[in-house]
Amino acid sequence: MSTIQLPDSYSAMAITEFGPADTLKRVKKSLAAPMSNQVLIKAISASVNPIDVKTRAGLGLVAQKNADKLPMVAGYDSYGQVVAIGDDVSPLKCGDYVVGMIGFPLAAGAYAEYVMAEQADLVKVADNATSEIAALPLAGLTAYQGLFEFGQLQADETVVISAAAGGVGHIAVQLAVFHGAKVIAIASEKNHAMLLALGASEVIDYCCLADFEPLSDIDLWFDLIGGEQAIAQLIKVGSIQRVVTVPTITAPQICQQAVKKGAQASGMLVKPNQQQLIKLVQLLENNQLRLNVVKQVPLPQAAEAHRLVELGKLSGKIVLIMN
Ligand SMILES: NC(=O)c1ccc[n+]([C@@H]2O[C@H](COP(=O)([O-])OP(=O)(O)OC[C@H]3O[C@@H](n4cnc5c(N)ncnc54)[C@H](OP(=O)(O)O)[C@@H]3O)[C@@H](O)[C@H]2O)c1
Repeated sequence: MSTIQLPDSYSAMAITEFGPADTLKRVKKSLAAPMSNQVLIKAISASVNPIDVKTRAGLGLVAQKNADKLPMVAGYDSYGQVVAIGDDVSPLKCGDYVVGMIGFPLAAGAYAEYVMAEQADLVKVADNATSEIAALPLAGLTAYQGLFEFGQLQADETVVISAAAGGVGHIAVQLAVFHGAKVIAIASEKNHAMLLALGASEVIDYCCLADFEPLSDIDLWFDLIGGEQAIAQLIKVGSIQRVVTVPTITAPQICQQAVKKGAQASGMLVKPNQQQLIKLVQLLENNQLRLNVVKQVPLPQAAEAHRLVELGKLSGKIVLIMN
């Protein structure tokens, strides 16, 4: 193992009990040495995802499985510099800048000044990457896997993307367009110009259900809203071949509605995938993918970031900046 000089402890923002945003509190953690295949990162930034917020509120599988392990450092998306490596780590080395979806789903740990990660979850990025890149891993992998693994999207097909302006949606729009598909984006009117600029062919405001009626011959419906709103939209539209619904809690109901329309349907859970993350980083570094980071706040203000995500109206991502 090789190391540079490191502190004994570091600050992190942890879920101390399940409840409102202010249950996220600053904690001190001791710095451990990386084990075999592990990499210690001095974090530069992390990003906030809806799953962090749901877990903090006590909802979903991650909260259930961690109920007796609080305080739990939140967050999955981490960007920073490698400061120590365990045995068998290669080719990453100290000094490299990396990004990754770490500890997904049960461990988490990205809302922290130092992050321990499995090397398989990390991808080396350019030395001149910026803090915004922390917005990429979880949302980007969800978009990629939802469209191309679960959704089997082909070039020249038509995909409808709901919550198209959100963290996953704005990346999904760009990946689908880059792949050669026609994208119909669902978002509030304030986001229409941005989505057209990202390559969407059509935009629909979700406030007007009647506008969904003319939609038909859809190859893939990529649902990022879930719940009653997604069901109401699906009822209105014509024929759909395939539906992928991303919010896990309502996936059974959405799939049931989709099957009633004669579509194939599935829910999904994102998984770490180094090769896919390498592709996403390459697209970003080649300026073929743009990340819409709407706010960057210091780590101690993580609770404020959670409140903003909870409102459900963010057109993009929030990034937490370390000291
Ligand atoms: N299963 C998995 O592995 C997995 C992975 C990632 C995310 N998820 C889930 O997928 C969902 C989307 O994640 P995200 O990170 O993209 O969320 P997000 O960034 O918080 O999404 C916010 C967006 O939702 C849009 N929105 C709200 N109500 C809408 C409606 N009725 N119709 C269309 N858009 C609506 C807003 O659009 P406007 O700004 O246009 O109003 C906003 O842009 C979340 O429920 C998340 O938990 C699941």
